[in-house]
Amino acid sequence: MAEKKKFQAIKGTRDLLPPDTELWNRVEQTAREVFGTFGFGEIRPPIFEPTELFARSIGMDTDVVGKEMYSFEDRDETSVSLRPEATASVCRAYIEHGMHAWPQPVKLYYTGPMFRRERPQKGRYRQFYQIGAEVLEMVPPNQDPAKNIGKDAAVDAEVIEMVMAFFARSGLEGVELAINSIGDRQCRPKYVELLRAELMKVKDKLGPDSQRRILTNPLRVLDSKLESEQGIIAGLPRISDHLCANCAAQYAELKRQLGMRGVPYAENWRLVRGLDYYMRTTFEITARGLGSQNAVCGGGRYDGLVELLGGPPTKGIGFAIGEDRLILSLEEAGKGGAALGRDVFVAWMGEQAQGAAILAAQKLRASGFRVELPPVEQKFGKALGQADKLGARYALILGDDEIRTGQWTVKTLASGEQAKMSEAEFLEMSRKGKRLSS
Ligand code: HAM
Repeated sequence: MAEKKKFQAIKGTRDLLPPDTELWNRVEQTAREVFGTFGFGEIRPPIFEPTELFARSIGMDTDVVGKEMYSFEDRDETSVSLRPEATASVCRAYIEHGMHAWPQPVKLYYTGPMFRRERPQKGRYRQFYQIGAEVLEMVPPNQDPAKNIGKDAAVDAEVIEMVMAFFARSGLEGVELAINSIGDRQCRPKYVELLRAELMKVKDKLGPDSQRRILTNPLRVLDSKLESEQGIIAGLPRISDHLCANCAAQYAELKRQLGMRGVPYAENWRLVRGLDYYMRTTFEITARGLGSQNAVCGGGRYDGLVELLGGPPTKGIGFAIGEDRLILSLEEAGKGGAALGRDVFVAWMGEQAQGAAILAAQKLRASGFRVELPPVEQKFGKALGQADKLGARYALILGDDEIRTGQWTVKTLASGEQAKMSEAEFLEMSRKGKRLSS
């Protein structure tokens, strides 16, 4: 006989199961509510896109595009990839649907799975989930870039305020926001050259990854977590000392705006982010209980990305929250989902009682109660045992007596109390009970 094959979820992917999925749903619902209050609408882009879309926007030399994408050939022989993130898709959609003609700015949010072939560990998966948001605004022709610095900073600050409000509503603990400015096309290239020159002087003291990055992307050296490199990095030139006047003004205004909104932050000059499309504002948020993978949100400004993808000159700012990490942190803080539970377990015996039980379950479910209706009759003792196991609040007992008299027997499982009442009385009582418990 052929050996039975056991299938398992692929490394770095996992099944999300009840009751944990309760918390996932709650978190997503909170995001929808909070983002809605800031005027964001939902976008649902596809899970796969042309590989070139990601290569062009995220950058060929990034780890995400260079090593981590799940790419395959489609039937027309073009290369497509599972999305490693969604900012590129949102920009593609902005262009494809002519959103520059919508009232500006266009504010969109998304939730869903992303895919990166990373080495799995706690808080790092190959299929993970993001909750993200983007604000896109076409730049009117001939606009003086210096004129809108205050406005851009206010938009950045509001986006950050929104994600912080969401974390507060979710009950996330130990939330810390770090911000930075990485300059723009004017000042960053000069800084990068300076950084490269300084790094060349200490090349021999750096590890192989950083040595390679001196040529490909010296900014990423600042991201290094290697203990032996920390002393060297501390002595490197800082971008804040090399920002052009517009970038410096924008960064100063961002800090003022965050202050006005009561959003606490720390500055981190080493915060450069791992994707190529950023300019000026970058930020990251960490939370408690996550170990080394403690970044629960990352984002920043990406003016020019839409244009790079063939659209009109457009400004952009956004973020993505790592939902897996958010959930992990909430669970570590004891805020995990409660067991699914049931409001009512309908215990029935007898053919007539089955009809009544089906109708009762229909009515209760229509009123929003969670109801368990056993498919076959059970002795009441066994049924009550099962109701207990499922964490039901009430057991509705329907037997010959109840059918004859029209009076239901209702047992409150926590106290063991039992009472007779009409259907209307029971509905009223469970409604009150439900309200009391929520
Ligand atoms: P990112 O920093 O690459 O940015 O990812 C955002 C967040 O997704 C991270 O802070 C982390 O919480 C989570 N994340 C990333 N990779 C993994 C993984 N392998 N396992 C679990 N969680 C992970 C972006 O994706 C940008 N698109 C954010 C953005 C939007 N910037 C502007 N708009």
